[in-house]
Amino acid sequence: MTTMTMTTKPSASGLTMRGSMTTSAMRGKVASVRMPHTRSARALRVCAGKEYSLTILPGDGIGPEIMKVALACMNEVGRKHDIKFNFTEALVGGAAIDAHGTPLPDETLAQCKASDAVLLAAIGGYKWDSLPSAQRPEQGLLGLRAGLGVFANLRPANVLPQLIDASTLRREVVEGTDIMVVRELTGGIYFGKPKGFGVNEAGERIGFNTMVYSEPEVDRIAKVAFEIARKRQGRLCSVEKANVLEVSQLWKERVIKVHEDFKDVELSHMYVDNAAMQLIRRPTQFDTIVTGNIFGDILSDAASMLTGSIGMLPSAAIGLEGPGLYEPVHGSAPDIAGQDKANPLAQVLSAAMLLRYQFGEEAAAAQLEKAVNDVLDDGYRTGDIMQEGKTQVGCVKMGELLLEKLAK
Ligand code: IPM
Ligand code: MG
Repeated sequence: MTTMTMTTKPSASGLTMRGSMTTSAMRGKVASVRMPHTRSARALRVCAGKEYSLTILPGDGIGPEIMKVALACMNEVGRKHDIKFNFTEALVGGAAIDAHGTPLPDETLAQCKASDAVLLAAIGGYKWDSLPSAQRPEQGLLGLRAGLGVFANLRPANVLPQLIDASTLRREVVEGTDIMVVRELTGGIYFGKPKGFGVNEAGERIGFNTMVYSEPEVDRIAKVAFEIARKRQGRLCSVEKANVLEVSQLWKERVIKVHEDFKDVELSHMYVDNAAMQLIRRPTQFDTIVTGNIFGDILSDAASMLTGSIGMLPSAAIGLEGPGLYEPVHGSAPDIAGQDKANPLAQVLSAAMLLRYQFGEEAAAAQLEKAVNDVLDDGYRTGDIMQEGKTQVGCVKMGELLLEKLAK
């Protein structure tokens, strides 16, 4: 077993890495890339025990239910590890539209920027579906990502042994799947200009968006992805559509260039259509994937289904400094909201990612992850991951079971 020791030093991407970890211990884990904004000044000032300020965005649909479970779990691990969390709730998405007429009120963004990290549940719902796109809840999320400058979205998809049979794919296909999708989050077609509606030369109405990446935008996401791949199995697959799109040709060129500084990482390239197919055909061939905003949106949903349920997957959105944004990959599931049917585990795992990536609180993060693992081992399942012979529970009960594990 090789042991790699990393000292605290700024890495090529500007991210800071710290710690000592065996390569086998790293496998199956989210990468141990550390944030530059590791610990707030506030936290450093408090000697006996640490204190962090978090902005909490429960959002819409099942958001408030799953957030409640995650906060209770965080308080419990906080007690165990002598960490105090100061939670401040703010409004985003549909909830903010209803209260303030806008999906991202200025005070919400200011509150997020002033905190050490942001934990978000989910936004959106039928109620706001017919609003024009600029006023929809989704704009709140996009504004938050842009406002916080969190350009790198880490979306792990690993198949938990307990849930292998919850996957819609055969056991032998998904067993051992452990993928990290690194999605560019503040550029590409989501933000490119020009965009809008218009009329073409034939007098027909059109809608248009622009898929654009600058070299620095590609370079910085590529660096993050190489750093992460280096801490995993050392394989990075860059996904684009360079056979058709100029934006992808530039993307590929820059990824190849950045690779010069990461020769220990094996780089491959794949067109997005093929990547979608390969994810379903043989997911175990992938280690780390780096891709643009919209391809990452689509591929991370596909990758999530390999694991049995999108209800299990956390994500982290990070920038070079400042608070990161931690949220489950799944949405607000308005169809089951308020019925105590939601799976809170992705929210709890997002809190674990927050503890690890933002604060370097590895022990507390690992304890949250272990609690999730243990309740699954005990056979408890929410509806989305229910299997024969297991015990189906609701969101509240799942929260109680997690707290029992954490209290031990
Ligand atoms: C996601 C979601 C968002 C996105 C929506 C809600 C704006 O699908 O986080 O994957 O497209 O990025
Ligand atoms: Mg999505």
